[in-house]
Amino acid sequence: MAGVELHRLRKEFGAFVALEGLDLRVEEGEFVALLGPSGCGKTTTLRMLAGLEFPTAGEIRIGGRVVNDLPPARRDVAMVFQSYALYPHMTVAQNIAYPLKKRGVPRAERAAAVARVAELLQLTPLLDRRPRQLSGGQQQRVALGRALVRDPQVFLLDEPLSNLDAKLRAHMRAELIELHHRLGRTMIYVTHDQLEAMTMSDRIAVLSAGRLMQFDTPGAIYDRPANRFVAGFIGTPAMNLIEGRIAAGRFTGQGLDLPLAPGLPEGPAVLGVRPEHVTIGEGAQRGRVRVVEPTGHETIVIAELPGGALVTARAPARARPAIGEVLPLGLDPDGLHLFAADEEGARIDPAR
Ligand SMILES: Nc1ncnc2c1ncn2[C@@H]1O[C@H](COP(=O)(O)OP(=O)(O)OP(=O)(O)O)[C@@H](O)[C@H]1O
Ligand SMILES: [Mg+2]
Repeated sequence: MAGVELHRLRKEFGAFVALEGLDLRVEEGEFVALLGPSGCGKTTTLRMLAGLEFPTAGEIRIGGRVVNDLPPARRDVAMVFQSYALYPHMTVAQNIAYPLKKRGVPRAERAAAVARVAELLQLTPLLDRRPRQLSGGQQQRVALGRALVRDPQVFLLDEPLSNLDAKLRAHMRAELIELHHRLGRTMIYVTHDQLEAMTMSDRIAVLSAGRLMQFDTPGAIYDRPANRFVAGFIGTPAMNLIEGRIAAGRFTGQGLDLPLAPGLPEGPAVLGVRPEHVTIGEGAQRGRVRVVEPTGHETIVIAELPGGALVTARAPARARPAIGEVLPLGLDPDGLHLFAADEEGARIDPAR
């Protein structure tokens, strides 16, 4: 087995910087998600790991060995692509067997490996079909099968579930988690779906515009986002971010006035609070109800603060405040986050 290390990995496409010096250390057997909005450099990173794209600068190590100059076949990684990239003229069995055939593995051995993988992915009844005779989910499983059959040191998965419907996606998510447990292999999983990243990963690397924003466990990323970008990107509905200032131990802005923990630096700041930490109908602040969205198991309420900013709250399912009504509004003191008001927006913690 092998861990993966990226050291100051940089990728330029002409004048465009797709990746700005990424440092990442993935432990052996770990499941790490690369998460970020479209265009942030996820696929580019994965393609460099696979050897399909060359870094402009920096180093890639797999199992401690620098692989920058190794061709894809000698890196012992298998990649599942965002598009499945199956061979249309080959059967499912031939598609899965292809990586083995390319390496000159004997026929009988190939057949045994294909049978094993097909069993694992419930593809046995489909082995004689061609890709166009399969559903999206089945094609996805074939693409996975083609990666699994080689039993590589590292799996690289690029949004493997993005073309599936919600139900099949949830099912495959569980299957992949199970597979990771069973195989214990290092997996690097690209997604822009935070639910996928949160539920599947040991750790998540959050990327934005070619830069690493945070690399930590799902819990830590949710509970202690390192900056405003991560705060706003992780969580649905999104964390409320309210501009104001810290002075004399209080946060004021948008009509809010809250006591804070001692030891925070004074000056402009952004207050973050997740919708589950906002209560409507009680509390020391006030808000005018603008939107009420019953989802069935809860009601999402959007209220306007006196300063004009909107705040989203998760309320119990039975809550039905009237639109336009001015209600008390509370922010849980244990659910407050503070960020710098500058572009970086780094998390501000009280001095100890
Ligand atoms: N071959 C290329 N030539 C020029 N620019 C490229 C090339 N490949 C990628 N890029 C640019 O690099 C940036 C990162 O692309 P990448 O495919 O890694 O994004 P991504 O995070 O995988 O996005 P998505 O979620 O949409 O798949 C994008 O702005 C993209 O346009
Ligand atoms: Mg991509």
